Amino acid sequence: MNVLGIESSCDETAASVVGATGVLSDVVHSQVIHAEYGGVVPELASRAHVEKMGTVVRAALSEAGIERPDAVAATAGPGLIGAVLVGLSFAKGLAAAWDVPFLGINHLEGHLLSALLEDPAPAFPFLGLVVSGGHSTVYLARDVGNYTVLGETIDDAAGEAFDKTARMMRLGYPGGPVVDRLAAEGNPKAVKFPRPRPGDLDFSFSGLKTAVRTHVQKKDRASDVDVCASFQAAVVDCLLGRVKEAAERTGVRRLALAGGVAANSELRRRALELDLDVFVPPKNRCTDNGAMIANAGRQRLIRGERHAMDLGARPGWRVDE
Ligand code: KG4
Ligand code: ZN
Repeated sequence: MNVLGIESSCDETAASVVGATGVLSDVVHSQVIHAEYGGVVPELASRAHVEKMGTVVRAALSEAGIERPDAVAATAGPGLIGAVLVGLSFAKGLAAAWDVPFLGINHLEGHLLSALLEDPAPAFPFLGLVVSGGHSTVYLARDVGNYTVLGETIDDAAGEAFDKTARMMRLGYPGGPVVDRLAAEGNPKAVKFPRPRPGDLDFSFSGLKTAVRTHVQKKDRASDVDVCASFQAAVVDCLLGRVKEAAERTGVRRLALAGGVAANSELRRRALELDLDVFVPPKNRCTDNGAMIANAGRQRLIRGERHAMDLGARPGWRVDE
């Protein structure tokens, strides 16, 4: 069964076809307009999705070598509502015209199940660290559709912390990739940024953000590369500390990384050093893409699910509801 997946919840217009043999096509158009504004402007994102969606979907179908998939899945939330509506409406229109099942997918479930597209893929149950621009959560995934939140951020998301740090240092947007690149040349021990206390499962990045702000305002501040390396080390310590705690509490030894921040080199390197079976998707499957939505849709379709055409967009949809 070939499933067309459409993603438009933030600033990527993406479409992909996933079939029995894996990913048949994966087309992502990243909107560049937001860089001028230092963050995603929702109204501009929606308009750009409308402009690009047709081309992106057509390219995904032609790269996959198919004219009509067996089902169409689209992100129904969480995300920027106007942006979500573009992909969701487009998907419903296609499903209606082709008379195939339609599936509305939770974007976070898409991220969480991304590792299933890889070979080897984790077997259930596994722990999922989903770290993106809007979310930082450790899940226990017992099966498709059976997820428990073990810990989540109480303030900023990990990606937001990267983006805000980059903004404070005037490094541009999105901040994650720039900080990652600069950090590679810096000393992670140059600045002693705070670490969260151990034994907890929730994340907090506001203390770290304040510490970075205070530091970069000092006259004798460290160089950009050293601040980036030290900040990044603190984020990774926080994320992996929570993962270790989750593994101890649940006894689950498999871990999948997902979300844009899982593209971070230091997080990937240090996660692979953990005494766990770690599954790290390639970087282009960590940041937003259509394959993760097609995959989640396909997993649900295989289990006999399909959704009604009156399914609405849900901007704050939690994956454990
Ligand atoms: O999953 P994603 O593409 O979109 C959301 O669903 O939010 O994640 C985007 C976030 C941004 O905050 C971006 O700065 C961060 O992922 N990011 C990174 C890296 N690449 C993207 N953060 C750290 N290191 C990276 N290499
Ligand atoms: Zn995402």
